[in-house]
Amino acid sequence: MSKVMTNTFKKLNLVFSTPIPVYEIADFARINADIIEEIRVRREKEQGMVRSNRVGWHSDLDFFARKEPAHRELAQKIMQCLADATQRVADKDKLANLRLECDGWVNVNPKGGYNVPHDHPGAFWSAAYYIQVPEPANGGMAGAIEFIDHRSAPPGQGLVQSPYMRSLHAMRPTPGTLVVFPSTLKHWVHPNDADEDRITIAINAKVAVDPEKMRQAQLDAAHESVRQVPGLSEGAEADASAAPADNAGRKAKKPAKTKA
Ligand SMILES: [Fe+2]
Repeated sequence: MSKVMTNTFKKLNLVFSTPIPVYEIADFARINADIIEEIRVRREKEQGMVRSNRVGWHSDLDFFARKEPAHRELAQKIMQCLADATQRVADKDKLANLRLECDGWVNVNPKGGYNVPHDHPGAFWSAAYYIQVPEPANGGMAGAIEFIDHRSAPPGQGLVQSPYMRSLHAMRPTPGTLVVFPSTLKHWVHPNDADEDRITIAINAKVAVDPEKMRQAQLDAAHESVRQVPGLSEGAEADASAAPADNAGRKAKKPAKTKA
């Protein structure tokens, strides 16, 4: 009689994950009350612009350069959170001299206002800070931000309902919350159906690092990828390390020496 063999579960790999760090800003109730007044004053003088917003007011992209006290205080706190978020997802040893370069703007969505699906090219992080979030007048998704996975969902996803494989993820953060996400992650905002305005700050953050440390990180990555090619000679490895290749296999030019 043959012995019954049992399969062994070894590991659930979760790859290509999407980090969405969430923060509560210290003393947000006071800051929000003050910044609502500052935004009211700005709207009397500034026309604003149209980007992903439909209906409502989108300020210029100068949030991090504004002089109003609550704007400045909030900008500093948001930058602290973005630095923390970067440390949580990256190799801390390679973050020396990390600098964040941020743009930000105010979004005011009145009743009927929403943001069409979009992403934020050119940045590392994007983020949304919530100042005023009305309760939906008719329930449902009104005023919620919804993230859209750019990868297509596997067939049958509707039947399986796996949290790992769904293509949409919505949230309605409360006032004082900062939601950080990769700038490549598409998102949109459902129409506000309440009489009260929905007021948020949107943020883009570029991450700049010491150029020499960046070059060393590229060399380390090139060494690692070369080591994973079976049968590659030592000589080829040494040559490959001289200039790291990009994803298309092209060799990078040596970067100019820049004083750190
Ligand atoms: Fe956005």
